[in-house]
Amino acid sequence: MDKKVILSGVQSTGNLTLGNYLGAISNWKKMQEDYECYYMIANLHTLTIRNNPETLRNNTLNLLALYLSAGIDPKKSHIFIQSQVPEHAELTWVLNCYTYMGELSRMTQFKDKSAKHADNINSGLFTYPVLMAADILLYQADLVPVGEDQRQHLEITRDIAERFNNIYGQTFKLPEGYIPKVAARIMGLQEPTSKMSKSSSIPNDSVFLNDEPDVIMNKFKRAVTDSENVVRYDVENKPGISNLISIYGAITGKKNEEVEEEFAGKGYGDFKKKVAECVIEELKPLQSEYKSLIANPDYLKEIYVEGANKAEEKAAKTLKDVYDKIGLI
Ligand code: TRP
Repeated sequence: MDKKVILSGVQSTGNLTLGNYLGAISNWKKMQEDYECYYMIANLHTLTIRNNPETLRNNTLNLLALYLSAGIDPKKSHIFIQSQVPEHAELTWVLNCYTYMGELSRMTQFKDKSAKHADNINSGLFTYPVLMAADILLYQADLVPVGEDQRQHLEITRDIAERFNNIYGQTFKLPEGYIPKVAARIMGLQEPTSKMSKSSSIPNDSVFLNDEPDVIMNKFKRAVTDSENVVRYDVENKPGISNLISIYGAITGKKNEEVEEEFAGKGYGDFKKKVAECVIEELKPLQSEYKSLIANPDYLKEIYVEGANKAEEKAAKTLKDVYDKIGLI
């Protein structure tokens, strides 16, 4: 039987955080054995905010290097850059015509982002979910591993696919989300009620994958907690400590209760230090691999050219089917 297909992606804006890694990329690695995986760098999605061209180019290659250093293996998975497979933009136009303004205006991410970038509410920001639907549907993906915040985007993807299938017959597979229970959502260290973000403006809120060990230690030492001084998982009342438990659990594989037991009778100082140490240890091999990859742009190019070729083989088939069905010559 053919392997099930997985597609996922991350936007190439800024540095990746520990949240991106634990919530997404570290899980991608495990899926490579059992699924046919397409892992994309979503550089078209980044155009919804203003980028410096040179920075965007660098961020794209840095993200590729991070995928590789996090253990995504180009021999097992198709790793590609979204803009290099033109079918993404082409299918987006078609799907735009099968998506309603009403559904797009209900997207919470659109509302959040418009509030945040009130000076640049462009139509790309509005149709962002349609591009994401095209990403997924082009590959007939069965499963889409993403964080909890992307759930609504998956729902609209299914709605668009179903609408199209109802009119033209079976064309797109309806994808399922693959939202891991553990560490689906790593929160900020300073503001543990919002997701750890690449673009947070709060100092020490986000741990970046290329932070030096002493920087990581300091960020954890400063992490917001509460006054109870008991390591106990309780998101409502203890969001800071609960987040640290999630991070520690995601890395060590321990359940919340096991973490609570391990730190019973110990104070927050000890706990934070232990969490920081395990994060530093976890990132060490990744960071050294990353440094050597970034110094080798020719190798990176080889990977993304090959990845785009493989991705396009599949994407082109779906797009042709769509064009035929709707009557585009
Ligand atoms: N919107 C996703 C995010 O911000 C990134 C993304 C773009 C994506 N296209 C995708 C994720 C397709 C999964 C599948 O995290």
